[in-house]
Amino acid sequence: MKELIDKINELKKQRNAVILAHYYQDPAIQDIADHMGDSLALARAARKADADVILFCGVHFMAETAKILNPDKVVILPDLEAGCSLADSAPADEFKAWIDAHPGHTVISYVNCTAEVKAMSDIICTSSNAARIIESVPPGRKICFAPDKYLGRHIIKQTGRDMVLWDGVCQVHQEFYEIAVVDLMNKHPEALVLAHPECPDNILHYADEIGSTTKIIRLATESDSKEVIILTEPGVIHQMKKLAPGKEYIPVPNLEGCSCNECPYMRLNTLEKMINALENLEPQIILDEEIRKRAEKPLLRMLELS
Ligand code: 13P
Ligand code: SF4
Repeated sequence: MKELIDKINELKKQRNAVILAHYYQDPAIQDIADHMGDSLALARAARKADADVILFCGVHFMAETAKILNPDKVVILPDLEAGCSLADSAPADEFKAWIDAHPGHTVISYVNCTAEVKAMSDIICTSSNAARIIESVPPGRKICFAPDKYLGRHIIKQTGRDMVLWDGVCQVHQEFYEIAVVDLMNKHPEALVLAHPECPDNILHYADEIGSTTKIIRLATESDSKEVIILTEPGVIHQMKKLAPGKEYIPVPNLEGCSCNECPYMRLNTLEKMINALENLEPQIILDEEIRKRAEKPLLRMLELS
């Protein structure tokens, strides 16, 4: 492992590269990253990146967002197959037909979508600014929200705004097993329960707090609770253990009973693939300039509003 890490650091210098990583990455990748964050923090870090190359350790839509905001930089992703079920749920042609069927609506898209979908949206949001973005739309204006229906329902509850929702789900968060949540809560009655808003309503119902990965990590480590039940991808636990080692962080099993409900896309990235990407500057994110420009507008709008 040390050899791989040394190699990555050496290549990083040669390429003048910066490594951005999401909290769902393997702990070894998290430890070598220059910046870690939730989707919003990573979009901001990408915008500020002072480097020729951005090695994005996350999934495709995140690397694409970095490229949209940095057209002059080389953006590489260790594994091009690192997709996302939410982005896949909204193909551009179906999305276009949907917004055409809702004239006069403000179109707000969760950042977990393709550049083509962003290009057709008015504003982008992430899990950490969704309510604020929705509230920025004048009352009385109709809203279409895509692609995460559970996040959409959660924001409707939070803001009281009515929205037309796209029927997409995160295949990881929708797999949490309700009976396992109740069982863990019975075994750990004092535990704080933290959930990501991509979870279905029947799971969010048990949460003491709901928020982005950054918020979940902050609350887990800064609260007085000694036990925390975690309803998101267990990659976040690595940061929690580093920040507040004395606590018990309890992941929740999925429907198959696997106690580590990992995102299969995020976990495709490895140290070996990072080396390959830095050596060959491949796989690279390449975007049609017309789409990039149109996708940049709603992203910049989000950054202004958050
Ligand atoms: P965050 O923006 O909260 O990190 O969420 C990203 C994501 O894909 C969650 O599944
Ligand atoms: Fe997409 Fe879900 Fe994986 Fe996040 S956890 S990248 S929403 S599939």
